[in-house]
Amino acid sequence: MKQDHPISEFARAMQSVPLRPADASEIAAIAKKHSGITSGENQPEFLRTRLSKRLLALGLHSYTDYVSYLKGPNGRAEAILLVEALATHTTSFFREPAHFDWLNDTGLPALTQGERRRANLAVWSAAASTGAELWSCGMVIEEYLRTSGINVNYQLFGTDVSRAVLSQGALAVFSEREIANIPEELRKNYLLRSKKVVREGKPVYRIVPKLRQKAKLAYANLLDPDSTELSTPMDIVFLRNVLIYFTPEDQKKVVQGVVRRMRPGGYLFVAHTETVRGLVDGLFSVGNSIYQYEAPDG
Ligand SMILES: C[S@@+](CC[C@H](N)C(=O)[O-])C[C@H]1O[C@@H](n2cnc3c(N)ncnc32)[C@H](O)[C@@H]1O
Repeated sequence: MKQDHPISEFARAMQSVPLRPADASEIAAIAKKHSGITSGENQPEFLRTRLSKRLLALGLHSYTDYVSYLKGPNGRAEAILLVEALATHTTSFFREPAHFDWLNDTGLPALTQGERRRANLAVWSAAASTGAELWSCGMVIEEYLRTSGINVNYQLFGTDVSRAVLSQGALAVFSEREIANIPEELRKNYLLRSKKVVREGKPVYRIVPKLRQKAKLAYANLLDPDSTELSTPMDIVFLRNVLIYFTPEDQKKVVQGVVRRMRPGGYLFVAHTETVRGLVDGLFSVGNSIYQYEAPDG
């Protein structure tokens, strides 16, 4: 029979450490204050599953001690790790593919050929996770420019509150399973297959340098406008699968902050399960969970 390593026994023991409702509320409130994320509120089991590793790493024996640690001199740094542990980073290439079809067929022609064409396009994936959304958009733009012969500059910005996913995103390396949704033609043009590195027993793939050079991934907290130096007015913004984690008030704050960074005529994509209706002025529905921003006075 396989013997358990003492560390894994200890980790299992940590998972059974009880979490008092008062500690659960304090932890959830600290996470919300730092990121807006409400995951964990009234979900003690979720908190315990996600946080037992933090207790183990810190050598703490109770969640009451963890709350004290969060309130102590190392609290700010720990709050970042708390948010990392509670955030859900699920993402995939060409998630909600209708958005990318719309971009190719309607959005990009309007932004590059119509009356409101731009010489430079700025794309922002505002809760980028490991970058699949940003790279999907980059591939669509690059392919659109290549096949239409249009010459427009573009930049790709990806931001997130989790530094761990951002550094993964900047590496731009994905497994065979992760790239499964990328259309064949785009795979051929925008991925390099590694001859040496393997993951899950299969070769890994890296985004081509041409796209990587266009991209900048950086920390930004959507609830704290001062947390980013991003100043380029954005033409295409993805704010998908993140609003669901915020309270209605924070959703409003986040969408207001995002729209403030958009260039009039630009497009905002939210997830099909999300809406920005009634949150801010100046957003007009132009497709299924796609909005165009117009400055309220013009
Ligand atoms: C479920 S993923 C969505 C990824 C991608 N947008 C998509 O739709 O596939 C949510 C991401 O939002 C990030 N996030 C959560 N709160 C945030 C905040 N306050 N500011 C910036 N990013 C945040 C998380 O770290 C996570 O990577």
